[in-house]
Amino acid sequence: MRLRADHISLFIDGKPVLEKVSVTARPGRMLVLAGSSGSGKTTLLNVLGLLRRIDAGEVVVGEQNATKWRDRNRRRFWREHVAFIFQDYGLIEEASVEYNVTVGRRTLLGIRRGDRERVDAVLEHVLLRGRNKEQTSRLSGGEKQRVGLARAMFRQADIVLADEPTASLDRKNREMVTNFLIEEARRGATVVVATHDEDLMAAGDDLIRLDQVEVAEPAHQSPE
Ligand SMILES: Nc1ncnc2c1ncn2[C@@H]1O[C@H](COP(=O)(O)OP(=O)(O)OP(=O)(O)O)[C@@H](O)[C@H]1O
Ligand SMILES: [Mg+2]
Repeated sequence: MRLRADHISLFIDGKPVLEKVSVTARPGRMLVLAGSSGSGKTTLLNVLGLLRRIDAGEVVVGEQNATKWRDRNRRRFWREHVAFIFQDYGLIEEASVEYNVTVGRRTLLGIRRGDRERVDAVLEHVLLRGRNKEQTSRLSGGEKQRVGLARAMFRQADIVLADEPTASLDRKNREMVTNFLIEEARRGATVVVATHDEDLMAAGDDLIRLDQVEVAEPAHQSPE
């Protein structure tokens, strides 16, 4: 599913955070949002994920103009299509690791029958094997980051939106995250990642630099 921002502008307290930015994320490709701190990477990622409203321009999801979608449509979009990996993890701290991994995919009784093996497999993948029942608040920053990653793996989403997913990790785990995002794109997902991490940037297929959008855009984005 393609995601497109078309000449979008967003102002906070009268100050432009994004000004006439256009960008397209395509299935099977990883788009990297780069730029200095405060340049608007997180904001643009949140616009593409329909978490933030814009003041001008359009956001297009697949073939549909999603700029004015109501909560019901946005919730369906998130539930059916998107895996988010947030800069601040976005986990429910009081809940268990396993709950966080499967959130939105559970029945009233807990994990769906048949999901058990996959939960264990993704936890193993992020090197948190057997930690299913631990309370998330007790984990270290890097461990929480990996729970967020496991949740994204578990979802097998059409669209993966990741904000600084390698920020609190050591080298081995950074590689794991990078490989995960590459694999997601390879299986056909639309991947967008905001990052300062040079290795992760190098793994991307397309690159936008937000502090010099006019320069970077024609150089790195192929035409429609
Ligand atoms: N809710 C908000 N209230 C006030 N200012 C905001 C808000 N959200 C973003 N901003 C401002 O918008 C600008 C861009 O912020 P954003 O978080 O998108 O940057 P970033 O490129 O992700 O930075 P970093 O690399 O530090 O994560 C910053 O100047 C920030 O202060
Ligand atoms: Mg940010």
